[in-house]
Amino acid sequence: MTGIFTGFFIGLVVISLVSNARRNGTILLPGSSRNFEQWLNLENLRILAKPSSSSVPIAQYLYDRVQISCVVLSSKQRQARAVIGTWGRHCNSLSFVADFEDKYVPVDLKASLQDPHILCLTLHKFAEKRFVADKNQWLLLADDMTFAVVENLRYLVAPLNTSENYYLGHAVTRRTLRGSELIVNVLSGGIVLSQGAVLALLLALSPDCNERKEEEHFDVTIAQLLMGTDATLLDTRDSSGSTRFLARPVEKLLIEKSVSPYDKFVEESIFAPKLGKRCCSANAITFHGVDALDMHFFEYLVNRVQIGKSSNSSPPLRSEDIPPVILE
Ligand SMILES: *[C@@H]1O[C@H](CO)[C@@H](O)[C@H](O)[C@H]1NC(C)=O
Ligand SMILES: *[C@@H]1O[C@H](CO)[C@@H](O)[C@H](O)[C@H]1NC(C)=O
Repeated sequence: MTGIFTGFFIGLVVISLVSNARRNGTILLPGSSRNFEQWLNLENLRILAKPSSSSVPIAQYLYDRVQISCVVLSSKQRQARAVIGTWGRHCNSLSFVADFEDKYVPVDLKASLQDPHILCLTLHKFAEKRFVADKNQWLLLADDMTFAVVENLRYLVAPLNTSENYYLGHAVTRRTLRGSELIVNVLSGGIVLSQGAVLALLLALSPDCNERKEEEHFDVTIAQLLMGTDATLLDTRDSSGSTRFLARPVEKLLIEKSVSPYDKFVEESIFAPKLGKRCCSANAITFHGVDALDMHFFEYLVNRVQIGKSSNSSPPLRSEDIPPVILE
């Protein structure tokens, strides 16, 4: 497990703020940490080996500079509460689309997930309440079985210009009800939209949500609407080809044979995911299929356990070998 979590230690790196940060408009694509480092350069920031009196933790800098608005589509109070108590705390804002009432859950839009206008209603609500033009703001849409590492999302999108039309996540091919093929970022992997993409969707949807019925699933509708725009879809795997948006439970991806032969996960993915011990990125952003109790467990492992306290490199391993897992 340690390998998966070493990437989260970016939070321990310390950067120094140089005043009068200037940006020169270079657009950098994700895929390697080099892009992130270039972005730091553009921001006039330096990574320090040791904190100084004028330095801020990189996670704090990113929290202020790259704002993530999380919108969770929920059908279970238990899951929604777990999101609030765990990863949801790392978002700059958190709201829920749900048809239940719970005193602990801020339901911004009370609607059933089967509502035929759900995407339209969600985006209008979001735009009305949370959209702040000219902020480096990104929207993360997730279901309530997803655990997200919001810090790693900031790291991925920081070098990108949110005014452009970015549509990020785990991309698969899907056939629509009318039979055409589409590239869809699946909701189970979490869907990340730039401000440009949210605006493009709002333009494609009518101001009155009742005008147009959404026939497809939430995630397919997003893909359908963005297809007619200049949306950019990126290979969101990391530089070693491991998946960042895990649309399947991580325990299944880690053990190659545990993905059902009937599951088209690998074949339908646009950017071939690996299975087995190299499946999952050290900079993973989403984990799907996480039960409420496990969310607390994940939160503890991802955000509290420290491996080799003052270092930000991978901990040494006695052996690289992993014995095969015996399946029942
Ligand atoms: C932006 O700044 C970086 C670093 O200062 C430099 O390498 C790059 O060439 C600049 N890009 C443009 C388009 O000026
Ligand atoms: C971001 O993109 C918008 C729209 O393409 C452009 O007007 C703006 O100058 C870009 N900003 C930066 C910092 O590159």
